[in-house]
Amino acid sequence: MRIAVCPGSFDPVTYGHLDIIIRTARLFDKVYVAVLDNPNKKALFSVEERLEMLRSSTREVGGVTCESFTGLVVDYASRRGAIAIVRGLRAVTDFEYEFKMASVNAQLARPIETVFMMTNNEYAFISSSAVKEVAQFGGDVSQWVPPEVEKRLAAKFAELRARGEI
Ligand code: PNS
Repeated sequence: MRIAVCPGSFDPVTYGHLDIIIRTARLFDKVYVAVLDNPNKKALFSVEERLEMLRSSTREVGGVTCESFTGLVVDYASRRGAIAIVRGLRAVTDFEYEFKMASVNAQLARPIETVFMMTNNEYAFISSSAVKEVAQFGGDVSQWVPPEVEKRLAAKFAELRARGEI
């Protein structure tokens, strides 16, 4: 059984993430899509909301389980029996951050490999932050996120606006 972990913030999941998850699921027997539960990092969506969106978007992808984790990703990956941490690489600008993380993780847990997958060209410039910014100001994000995520973004910003938080 070859197991991989796709860790991230997924705030929220985009078609770019889904492309990586689907391609990882073709290469491994089982994939854990793992949302980092980090109380120090302010997210738009709660961990539970992010998991709901991930679960509904990956419903039809076999072998995928979505859950949250706390602490180090290598410890989580070891608990799940994973042999690889899979990350998507978009532009060169991702490289330094990813290289640093992969090096730290390699020094912490040598048997776990970090595998980089190049994102599909179509998704090379999508990020959750760009999606949030566009959605907040009423732009169309339907080409970057599944319909359910689009709806939740609109609802979330309407709620924040009603509460006077934005
Ligand atoms: O989607 P993101 O925000 O780029 O994902 C970053 C993530 C969650 C993969 C990374 O922050 C992480 O693995 N955090 C857990 C803490 C950890 O293991 N740190 C050591 C590597 S620097």
